[in-house]
Amino acid sequence: MVVSADAGSRGGKAVPYKALLDEAIAQSTHKPESVLLVDRGLAPLPLVEGRDRLWAPLREQHLHAQVPCVWVDATHPSYTLYTSGTTGKPKGVQRDTGGYAVALAASMEYIYCGKPGETYFSTSDIGWVVGHSYIIYGPLIAGMATIMYEGLPIRPDGGIWWSLVEKYKVTVMFSAPTAIRVLKKQDPALLKKYDLSSLRALFLAGEPLDEPTAQWISEGLGKPIIDNYWQTETGWPILAICKGVDDAPPKFGSPGKPVYGYNVKLLDDQTGAELTGANQKGVVAIEGPLPPGCMQTVWRDDARFVNTYWKSVPGRMVYSTFDWGIRDEDGYYFILGRTDDVINVAGHRLGTREIEESIAGHPNVAEVAVVGVADALKGQVAMAFAVLKDASCLGDTQAELRLEGEIMKLVDRDLGAVARPARVRFVTVLPKTRSGKVLRRAIQAVCESRDTGDLTTMDDPAALQQIRDLVQTKNS
Ligand code: PRX
Repeated sequence: MVVSADAGSRGGKAVPYKALLDEAIAQSTHKPESVLLVDRGLAPLPLVEGRDRLWAPLREQHLHAQVPCVWVDATHPSYTLYTSGTTGKPKGVQRDTGGYAVALAASMEYIYCGKPGETYFSTSDIGWVVGHSYIIYGPLIAGMATIMYEGLPIRPDGGIWWSLVEKYKVTVMFSAPTAIRVLKKQDPALLKKYDLSSLRALFLAGEPLDEPTAQWISEGLGKPIIDNYWQTETGWPILAICKGVDDAPPKFGSPGKPVYGYNVKLLDDQTGAELTGANQKGVVAIEGPLPPGCMQTVWRDDARFVNTYWKSVPGRMVYSTFDWGIRDEDGYYFILGRTDDVINVAGHRLGTREIEESIAGHPNVAEVAVVGVADALKGQVAMAFAVLKDASCLGDTQAELRLEGEIMKLVDRDLGAVARPARVRFVTVLPKTRSGKVLRRAIQAVCESRDTGDLTTMDDPAALQQIRDLVQTKNS
């Protein structure tokens, strides 16, 4: 069964779902027997005979029905959530039931410090792991009320979230640095307009927390801002500040120390050797077994689970986070970005390979490279450089823009607007090594006006120059 609605609402506009859903079902090989639809009165809702049913009358009919619990094993899967990696094929992260419930309950007590009867407000969306863990299961398991907020944080104005904190006496709030950077552009007086005395702390996760953003919101709200680091795969924090477990004070720029249950190690990516000294950069790895709540396997692909996560560091069977990190002399960790081709756009995790595959589906694209480029608001944005099969439009600005628009539409359709590249630029050749590997790091460095490092393996220096010229031209 698919549960959906006529539309969502964002920025005051309805986002119709039904046509998208019908199209998705038409494309799927395993079709749902039934579709349950909530009619919010936002968009037309044509029903398919025999398959689609409306929620409201069914609710009326079953209003006082008692539904008994279904007992399952602790290891029974609770859900799968797809996430990006190095390849173009997202992995289905499979989560158990019992371990996850235990991990979330513990995290509510020792990390987020929410108490039964209080209200928790996570500004995420339930399609992402933060929404699963900390809009739905975590707060409810902890006996808290939870707020689900739809739409932008700046409508009707940038005070909307704080008005909810006042109205529902929120004690714990969870958001992402990107959202705070959006609010930073609004009137700071909005942070003082509402009574926030119930709020104890604002937790931020999902991407690196930069100092200006942390400072701004901490001063504006007069509340502690607490970073925490984790992944879809783990389902709950790997690095955090745990109250009553290790009463370490937060340190700026660090999400904290390993959470109980996680045996975190920094490893040399070439040799697998453990880096025990302070301030050495290595791959953040977790020695098995993983604590409760972390993924059980890749849905229907145990081999992929083992090969991707447990065999990427040479000579060791450890779980790799695919993040670089360092640990300072006091044991605090700092996350320095991904070791793979995953980028983080406005707190959303995207695989550049998935975007490349979508763009390569355009009939006129021969080859494409997508890289993540630093962005003041979103953390990173995707930039695409494509080689065309028929390059006759090159140099004709209108034609290039038209093609760029077509490609963006394609990515919207395949992956959603969040994955849409900021720009698609056209080149005649991509910079590659002599063995044919696209030099994504060098392209990224050029886009960020950084030193490209050693390019002795590069096949054709003119290829990188083309990108440099494009990036330096106006409107780039
Ligand atoms: O690169 C790390 C970054 O986001 C990745 C995980 O993204 P996702 O699977 O969407 O899960 C988000 C759950 C909060 C990580 O591999 N990341 C997450 N939190 C932080 C972070 N980078 C720096 N600081 C963080 N606090």
